[in-house]
Amino acid sequence: MNTNGHVVQATNLSKTYSTGGREVEALRGIDLTIAPGEFTVLLGPSGAGKTTALNVVGGLDRPTGGELTVAGEVIAGNGHRAREGQLDALRRKHIGFVFAQFHLLPTLTAVENVLVPMIWEDASDRGRAEGLLRRVGLDHRLTHRPDELSGGEMQRVALARALVNRPALLLADEPTANLDTHTRDEIFELLRELSDEGLAILFATHDHELAERGDTVLRLSDGVIADD
Ligand SMILES: Nc1ncnc2c1ncn2[C@@H]1O[C@H](COP(=O)(O)OP(=O)(O)O)[C@@H](O)[C@H]1O
Ligand SMILES: [Mg+2]
Repeated sequence: MNTNGHVVQATNLSKTYSTGGREVEALRGIDLTIAPGEFTVLLGPSGAGKTTALNVVGGLDRPTGGELTVAGEVIAGNGHRAREGQLDALRRKHIGFVFAQFHLLPTLTAVENVLVPMIWEDASDRGRAEGLLRRVGLDHRLTHRPDELSGGEMQRVALARALVNRPALLLADEPTANLDTHTRDEIFELLRELSDEGLAILFATHDHELAERGDTVLRLSDGVIADD
């Protein structure tokens, strides 16, 4: 690995969407490095390119140009272009995602939601799912369904699910956007603890107040990261 131990190393990363004969340059050459345990906030208004950046780093989408290495896997660069199978493996092994909308399955309990990624891996471990729910403070909600949980509790379940594969990197796309201020702060604090334990976090938000609490703040606007 030639990334000096970084979990994410991106250079001149770009992403252009071509839809309906129109081109949108969502990312125009961004540089990004994230070390293990580093809490990086990607701050920018709606349309800045935050979701695009997270999707490209997380292997949900491919960059148009530039170099990208995540968890030691070269995703793009030196003429290399990751195949779909490599992107799948990257996501499964190394990356957790959380979103503003939680994306829990409504008919499943909290424990069952956390088990979902393990079922894909054919390694269902209920004890581990319960342990993760305990870790995020939900010991008393193990068998509740999403409609019996508050927004903050749903995000804790989603976070426990994101930790199932012991990811090196957590990608958080505005995970506190649908929460009240107090709950936002609780979730942020929980993420802070996880990063102190070694998890690298890339946290996208438009919330300036939160940005100041990260280790590193990257200000994104029109697909460009501003120099500080
Ligand atoms: N799948 C897509 N096809 C075409 N344009 C897109 C697509 N996804 C995002 N965009 C455009 O890329 C730009 C950045 O979007 P996005 O990454 O969602 O920003 P943010 O998450 O900061 O709101 C916007 O102009 C958006 O309209
Ligand atoms: Mg977005």
